[in-house]
Amino acid sequence: MGLHLICGGAGFVGVNLARRLLADGESVLAVDDLSRGRRELLAEFDSNPNFAFNRVDCASADAVLATIKDAGEPVGHLWHMAANSDIPAGVADPCIDLERTFLTTFGVLQAMRHARIPELHFASSSAIYGDFGEVEIHEDIGPLEPISNYGAMKLASEAQIRAAIEAYLPRADVFRFPNVIGVPATHGVIWDFVRKLKATPERLDVLGDGSQQKAYLHVDDLIEAMLHISRLEGRYKVFNIGPVDAGVTVRAIAETVRDRVAPAAVIAYGEGNRGWVGDVPRFRYSVSKLTATGWTPKLGSEGALRKAIAEIALQEIGA
Ligand SMILES: NC(=O)c1ccc[n+]([C@@H]2O[C@H](COP(=O)([O-])OP(=O)(O)OC[C@H]3O[C@@H](n4cnc5c(N)ncnc54)[C@H](O)[C@@H]3O)[C@@H](O)[C@H]2O)c1
Repeated sequence: MGLHLICGGAGFVGVNLARRLLADGESVLAVDDLSRGRRELLAEFDSNPNFAFNRVDCASADAVLATIKDAGEPVGHLWHMAANSDIPAGVADPCIDLERTFLTTFGVLQAMRHARIPELHFASSSAIYGDFGEVEIHEDIGPLEPISNYGAMKLASEAQIRAAIEAYLPRADVFRFPNVIGVPATHGVIWDFVRKLKATPERLDVLGDGSQQKAYLHVDDLIEAMLHISRLEGRYKVFNIGPVDAGVTVRAIAETVRDRVAPAAVIAYGEGNRGWVGDVPRFRYSVSKLTATGWTPKLGSEGALRKAIAEIALQEIGA
């Protein structure tokens, strides 16, 4: 019930969530500071009377509160998707993750408290866990030792939400996303490879030796999982979301993108099994808690990659 407020609504996941909620007949107010998201990604909804957009810095509780008060109808759900999604940028300048990932959660929670908004849905990340190597990562594993500043700020955000549940927040879902792919792509390994090949069709430089292996989920499956979890019973729900397979190597992704975009390109690998500081080279992600509730993804990692590569190639090079 009530309006859906999407913080970070002009980003990759936010746009897909807005499309799905509007298709279900819901009302959506998207807010974004446009630091990485783009207003034009939401243009397709502008003729829909159930849609509105405001440019807002979600680290400011006052700004979020003002947009809630002006919304015209009570906000029933707040989807907090705002964050810095550029992990290497946060390594180079930790203030970026502090402001866009941690302080947006602080601002959103303060605004929810004052406006008495009943439900928070939060985009957390597998990055909160750190590097467990070959050990399967389920929701209760510990200790949690994130190895990127981004992961640290997401974990600290989860901690704020847990404390808010104790003090004033009626309901919260914490979604621990894997690598999510699809369009409109704003970042990520496929987007990066396609853009590199567009610039230099004869060569593709890959960060790391290509042996990193990760699980990938298509954004369509992610949205279904979030909506599914939001409908489950419980005041505070924490779920890993992901495919049920072990994932795909960066080498396989590089070759598939090369074959699709610039078949003659030479792939040049870097050294070591980490693409950047804070990159987890390999993880086994358990989604059994989620599948036990009746959700299964339509696509595994390979299928999601094939679909997303075609979509992102179309987005970036029109073919
Ligand atoms: N895409 C993935 O693979 C992935 C994986 C794990 C977690 N996540 C999380 O899911 C959420 C959505 O990710 P995405 O892939 O859509 O990234 P994205 O960068 O496309 O979207 C995030 C949006 O947040 C906005 N934003 C940043 N700081 C803001 C601020 N201070 N005020 C208002 N808006 C602000 C950005 O402009 C951007 O539009 C993020 O919280 C991200 O950390 C994504």
